[in-house]
Amino acid sequence: MHIFFRGVFFVLLFSSFVFTQHPDPVRGKNGMIVSASKIASEVGIQILKKGGNAIDAAVAVGFALAVTYPAAGNIGGGGFMVIHFNNGKSTSIDFREKAPMYSHEKMYLDSNGNFLPHLSQEGETSSGVPGSVAGLIYALEKYGTLPLREVIKPAIKLAEKGFILDYRLAQSINAFYSDFIKYPSSMKIFTKNGSKFEEGDRFIQKDLAKTLKLISKKGRDGFYKGEVADKIVNQMRNSGGLITYEDLENYKVVEREPIISTFKGYKVVTMGPPSGGGVILLQSLNLLENFEFNKDEWNSSSYIHKLVETFKYAYADRSKHLGDSDFYPVPLIELLNKDYAQRIFAQIGEYATPSSQISPTEFPKYDESQETTHYSVIDKFGNAVSVTTTINSAYGAKVVVDGAGFLLNNEMDDFSAKPGEPNQFGLTGSEANKIEPGKRMLSSMTPTIVLKDDKAVLILGSPGGSTIPTAVLQVVLNYLVFGMQVQAAVNSPRIHHQWLPDRIDFEDQAILYDVKENLIKKNHVIGEKRILGRVEAIAIENGIFYGATDPRGYGGAVGY
Ligand code: GLY
Repeated sequence: MHIFFRGVFFVLLFSSFVFTQHPDPVRGKNGMIVSASKIASEVGIQILKKGGNAIDAAVAVGFALAVTYPAAGNIGGGGFMVIHFNNGKSTSIDFREKAPMYSHEKMYLDSNGNFLPHLSQEGETSSGVPGSVAGLIYALEKYGTLPLREVIKPAIKLAEKGFILDYRLAQSINAFYSDFIKYPSSMKIFTKNGSKFEEGDRFIQKDLAKTLKLISKKGRDGFYKGEVADKIVNQMRNSGGLITYEDLENYKVVEREPIISTFKGYKVVTMGPPSGGGVILLQSLNLLENFEFNKDEWNSSSYIHKLVETFKYAYADRSKHLGDSDFYPVPLIELLNKDYAQRIFAQIGEYATPSSQISPTEFPKYDESQETTHYSVIDKFGNAVSVTTTINSAYGAKVVVDGAGFLLNNEMDDFSAKPGEPNQFGLTGSEANKIEPGKRMLSSMTPTIVLKDDKAVLILGSPGGSTIPTAVLQVVLNYLVFGMQVQAAVNSPRIHHQWLPDRIDFEDQAILYDVKENLIKKNHVIGEKRILGRVEAIAIENGIFYGATDPRGYGGAVGY
């Protein structure tokens, strides 16, 4: 079965939560962490209690997730961190993986030009140069207050002494048993001497603890040079992977201006290229701002029609215009222009426009592309951090670096390996996102902070590949427009459309019977029922922090 859909099938097994019941979010006055692992959230809170700021806590959570949430938490992948400081300024840190220097445009095509997804989606051949360790250390050194050894210590302890597997995590690891047993290095970590794990087992990762200790002692050199680099490069040489010593040594974090737009009196701060997620979010909000929303219309056919038509135009533009802006002139100003949004708005009518009749807009002045995890952090000083990190599919390339205890990413599949050929998320791309040495592959990750009067009011993000921006957007609308409390905003069922394929995917109870009939009458195509994102959010209201973990996952909000 296709990797992505197998992942989805696994998630669907656990989709029996009740959308209509919305428990209260977790409250806190001094700090709040919401992540996909309650153990990792608790690690972050301990750092805040010791006097660390939100950046210290975010870095500690990042390393802890690499131990306690191996499906997506990582040191072998990459990600993006958006920060809003209590002085009103914002920044973003790009630690996305990069294509190795020996990569090339046709590396995933056979001699007849056919796409070979098994090379871009699994094993060492699918890995980009990891950025997480460099990114977390960069953030800590520039904006944190505590030493690396202190923020990484809890992760080392969790890896060395282990932690008890709960039912969901044991099931998650076991769901990929047949992948892990193909690789002796993965079988060593992700099976119990060749058998499946059980709830209640202690999960110990000694090799990972050793790697984390090297990082603690030597900083980024503990990962990008020496013993760990030797292990990565040897494994690449033995398996057709491309990452070299030079790739590792030359990996660079880039601090970028976040992209910002306004929406109904709020400011939305999010990640720009090489993520396309933030661009889709802001483009969609710019367009949706032109509609009047009636509070009673939530998830009616008229509401879903507005969302879907909006998404079609945004994803069509993504396919042509978005890629790594260090390599390709992304027309950001044009895409985020409010007049452009109004022009598109004017084209949206009462009936669905088929995706085949929507093309990416041409901007003439330019000559010329499930498993991820998000966490949100706020401290008592008012600093807000929104981080999405990934090794791409669940458990990444499925292959552990032997002796170093961490999974490699399969992020190369986020490039457009062949124009028009869908990747594992069904996304197509073109020139802008073609493979080039040293380039970052286009992402959908959308770590976001919503501001009112320059203060954070909502911090959120999600995993889910192409469904990330639409999941984030719906939670933003639920909270800001429909006035839901944050847990309800996160829990409520969602829909998704990404231009191609031309269909509305939906969650259980997202499209009720007569809504479906009405959408069909408007010429919409109803697609698959599936889980759409797992949003981890914090809302800030009157100085109180409200943490909402998504019941689609098994994470935790911890506050104090
Ligand atoms: N690997 C998923 C993403 O970056 O969008």
